[in-house]
Amino acid sequence: MSEIMRADNVSMIFGGLTAVDNISLTMEDNEILSLIGPNGAGKTTFFNMLTGVYQPTFGTITFYGENITKLKPYERVAKGISRTFQNIRLFSSMTTLENLLVAHPKCNSENIGRVLLGGKKLKKARQEIVEECEEILEIVGLKDKEDELATNLSYGKQRLLEIGRALATNPKLVLLDEPGAGMNSMEKEELSTLIRYITQKMDKKVLLIEHDMRFVMGISDRILVLDHGELIANGKPEEIQQNQMVIEAYLGKGMTDEE
Ligand SMILES: Nc1ncnc2c1ncn2[C@@H]1O[C@H](COP(=O)(O)OP(=O)(O)OP(=O)(O)O)[C@@H](O)[C@H]1O
Ligand SMILES: [Mg+2]
Repeated sequence: MSEIMRADNVSMIFGGLTAVDNISLTMEDNEILSLIGPNGAGKTTFFNMLTGVYQPTFGTITFYGENITKLKPYERVAKGISRTFQNIRLFSSMTTLENLLVAHPKCNSENIGRVLLGGKKLKKARQEIVEECEEILEIVGLKDKEDELATNLSYGKQRLLEIGRALATNPKLVLLDEPGAGMNSMEKEELSTLIRYITQKMDKKVLLIEHDMRFVMGISDRILVLDHGELIANGKPEEIQQNQMVIEAYLGKGMTDEE
């Protein structure tokens, strides 16, 4: 197995609050890895450090052996790290297709010279970008909604569009922050199928945060548990379910219930 991403002694301190406390972990090839933990445990903060929204207060982050700790978010996207957000961030007045087009790496490569030259080559290049984005819409199940404004999509479909936009950047690793939040059980089934498709057929790695235990236990190869910024468990779903510290961290919330 080869290493995809590694965090070494990573901490994030906001003023007096240690949101992420000295976490070290590796993400290996061939696994769907999930990050769980109670509200405020530091999950999104950790994602924000992996994606460059925050620079860790301490520690280093490595992606395919390269130290990326100081890279900006757009530089990490170019390296192949893409994400969705816990609070959906779409261009609501753009169509479904347009939301993908703006994320496509070739969209900004139409420089002035090429635009002036125009002609068949440019038209063909544009057509290829549109076709690639339409293929992604097909994969996430939104092809029939491509001309719909993002704001008119249901909440569940907006989440799928965010995944589509993440895929449009041609990532190696996709980080999903609560992709199933607000979805009904049928949509969650479809989401599981989609995540498996992304990993198995598209050969992309997935790291996800999710509160729905049934969903997480069903899809993950390995689970990391954060509590008060600390990594308290790391193991296979069946090990996590039996782990006393994890049960205590979730006490009163029910390990098998949705939040
Ligand atoms: N920019 C920030 N400034 C100050 N404190 C922050 C900031 N971002 C997060 N925090 C704090 O860090 C802690 C961890 O927050 P975080 O959003 O990472 O938790 P989480 O595990 O994603 O929770 P949830 O399950 O509710 O999404 C919380 O106490 C939060 O209030
Ligand atoms: Mg969060």
